Amino acid sequence: MHYILYAEAGVTDDGNMRADNRISPDDTMTLPPAPFLLGSLNREPITRISGCAHPVVRGRVHVPVHTGSVDAFIKLLPPREFAVESVCEWLAREVELPMPEPLWVTVHRQRMRTVWPFGNDETQLCFGTQAFNLARPVHLGDQSRSVLAQAYGLDSLLLAKIALFDELIGNDDRHAGNLLLTPRGTVVLIDHERALGGTGLALFSTAPPPGPNQLLHRVRALSVAERATLKSPLRAFCAACTTAACRIPYTQLVNAEALHEPMRVYLESRAERLFDTLEETLGIRDLPGLNPAGFHPLAP
Ligand SMILES: Nc1ncnc2c1ncn2[C@@H]1O[C@H](COP(=O)(O)OP(=O)(O)OP(=O)(O)O)[C@@H](O)[C@H]1O
Ligand SMILES: [Mg+2]
Repeated sequence: MHYILYAEAGVTDDGNMRADNRISPDDTMTLPPAPFLLGSLNREPITRISGCAHPVVRGRVHVPVHTGSVDAFIKLLPPREFAVESVCEWLAREVELPMPEPLWVTVHRQRMRTVWPFGNDETQLCFGTQAFNLARPVHLGDQSRSVLAQAYGLDSLLLAKIALFDELIGNDDRHAGNLLLTPRGTVVLIDHERALGGTGLALFSTAPPPGPNQLLHRVRALSVAERATLKSPLRAFCAACTTAACRIPYTQLVNAEALHEPMRVYLESRAERLFDTLEETLGIRDLPGLNPAGFHPLAP
């Protein structure tokens, strides 16, 4: 229910932002604070991105707190995928992975012409991200590891963190188009709508069933010396993931109360297994004299 209020907050009946660009006091009484910047999709130009599982458009989003508009990609997702994107975005930010700025964008049916997967609803709150111009997919096989590390900061540590994050959220969709190189010389993660999946799970079954975590295979293939140096920072990263997974503000992020508990159980149980996944991936046991300098195994 609060998604509808967010979608209506700050927007007049004709679909424009309120003159004061603010959520009304009545709304703030009932709404938990929005976890991301709120905005509203402007009129033309709105470009549809082809080849996406659910409709994705690019357009200008009016963001009141910026008192201006930003270029953004907006995903017209069903409620479950919207919630999954929002929760994963919150987690990624919490563990400091590089992401584009997330937005919750009010989209009006009358602006969308042919693309409107929301039946008779006049407005919908959608997940968006601020656009990086000229972003390119990361084809890991096409560039040498040293170029990826030096030019884009995509070194083995970041690669392993992304792999572990995908393990935490159950994401099997980290293909080249969901890891982008930006013209600023950075790498950013996008697109977690297929996360929180798993065959046989009542609420999150995914078809087709989740595939393997390809990035984790890359970490396994690193040299022993490199895996040893990753051990300590990755343990710290797993600890940050576990802490974050236990702090997710579901009431802020997820409209459907019925999803809160299954999402919590799913993510917390995956967080619990993360240290084991790390140990298994690195394949280096905690033996005295064999651990990297300065590494102290965690207390049980
Ligand atoms: N913030 C962004 N900056 C630049 N490009 C973006 C951004 N967000 C999305 N894109 C582009 O739009 C494409 C589609 O977005 P996204 O991956 O979120 O949708 P999708 O339908 O889930 O895609 P797919 O199913 O093909 O993985 C991306 O592959 C990327 O090229
Ligand atoms: Mg994608």
